[in-house]
Amino acid sequence: MIEVLNKMPRLGVAVAGLGRIGRLHAEIIKVWVKDAELVAVVDVIESLAKSVGESFNVKWYTNYDKALQDPRVDAVVIAAPTFLHKDMIVKAAEAGKHVFVEKPLTVTSEEAMEVKQAVEKHRVKLQVGYNRRFDYAYSKAKKDIEEGVIGKPLAYLAVARDPDAPPGWVADPKLSGGIFLDQLSHDFDMARWLMRDEIIEVHVVGGAYIHESVKEKGDLDVVSIVFKFANGAQGFIHGTRKFPYGYELRTEVFGDKGVIYVGTNRDELYARGTKDGLTYFGAPWFVKRFYDAYVNELTSFTKAVLEDKEPECTVIDGLRAVQIAEACWRSVKEGRPARVILNP
Ligand SMILES: NC(=O)c1ccc[n+]([C@@H]2O[C@H](COP(=O)([O-])OP(=O)(O)OC[C@H]3O[C@@H](n4cnc5c(N)ncnc54)[C@H](O)[C@@H]3O)[C@@H](O)[C@H]2O)c1
Repeated sequence: MIEVLNKMPRLGVAVAGLGRIGRLHAEIIKVWVKDAELVAVVDVIESLAKSVGESFNVKWYTNYDKALQDPRVDAVVIAAPTFLHKDMIVKAAEAGKHVFVEKPLTVTSEEAMEVKQAVEKHRVKLQVGYNRRFDYAYSKAKKDIEEGVIGKPLAYLAVARDPDAPPGWVADPKLSGGIFLDQLSHDFDMARWLMRDEIIEVHVVGGAYIHESVKEKGDLDVVSIVFKFANGAQGFIHGTRKFPYGYELRTEVFGDKGVIYVGTNRDELYARGTKDGLTYFGAPWFVKRFYDAYVNELTSFTKAVLEDKEPECTVIDGLRAVQIAEACWRSVKEGRPARVILNP
C-alpha cells in the first residue's frame, strides 16, 4: 500500500512571476505541498529567474511560452502583474496546463469572460487565489455560519487597511484594477463566501486624500462601500491604502442569533509593558498573516487537479469579484448606487 501511495503522480508545477507573492508560492510548493513538485520558475527578469531557480534547484525560464512547452509542467501558478493574467491564463489553457492564478482573476469582466471560455474549451482547472478562504479564522467563521451558530446572517462588515500606497505597477488602476479590485476584492470574495449570496448593488463614497501618487493615477485611497445582497442582507466595507500601525483586517458577520468576529489590528503575540503603559504593535503584513492560508490554498488546488474535482475558488468566483469592483468604479463616477452586472 505504501509503495502504491509513493508511486502516485505528483503535480508538476511552474511558478510564473517571482515578485512579492510568486517567490512565496514557489517556496510553498517546494517545501509544503507534498503532492506537488516545483519543476520550474519563470520571470522576465533574468537575474531573478536564475537566482530563484538555482536556490530551489529547478529549471528557470525568462520566457513563459517556453515554460509552457516543458512536458514536466502540468500546472502553472500565475503570480505576474494582474494586467497580464488574461493572456497568461489563455496560453496555459491552450497548452493544456491547469492554472492557479493570483487574485484578481483579470482587470476587466470582458477579460474574465475570455478566460472562462478558454478554460472551459480546453478543460483545464482554474483556481483564483482568494487565500482568505483557506485561513484558519475565516474558515472557522464559515463553518459556524453554515452550522447556524449566528442564525440568519444579516450584515457583513469589514475594515481593510493596507500599510501604505501600492507599489510599482499596482499604483495604476488600469493595470491593477485599483483599490476595489487589487485590495478590496478579497473582501468582496469573503462577503459572497461567508454570506453564501451575491452582492447586487454597491454605493461608494471615496477619494484620494493621502497619496499624491494614487491621485495622479486616478485611484482612491480611502473608500467606504455600502452594499446589498440578493436576499436582502446588507454590507459595509471600509478600505484605506494607509495604516500607520501596519496592517488592519477586521471582519464581522452579524446574524439574528449572534455575531462572528475575525481579525485584529494588533500583534497579539507581543506586547511591551513599561511605566508608560502596555504597548501592543500592529498586526503583521500579508506574508506572515496568511502564510498557512497560502499553503492550504495550493494544497487544495493540487488535490483538485489530481482528484479531478472543482477547485474551491472558481473562475465564476473570480469573475464576480471583478464585476463588483466594476460596479464600485461606476458608483464613484456617477455618485450614486450602482447595480452589479451579474452576467452570466
Ligand atoms: N493573495 C495575496 O495575498 C496577494 C498578495 C500580493 C499580490 N497578489 C497578486 O499577485 C500578483 C502579483 O503581484 P506582486 O505584488 O507579487 O507583483 P510583483 O510586481 O512584486 O511581481 C510580479 C513579477 O512578475 C514578473 N513578470 C512580469 N511579466 C512577466 C511575464 N510575462 N512572465 C513572467 N513573469 C513576469 C515581474 O518581473 C515580477 O518579478 C498580482 O495579481 C497581485 O494582485 C496577491
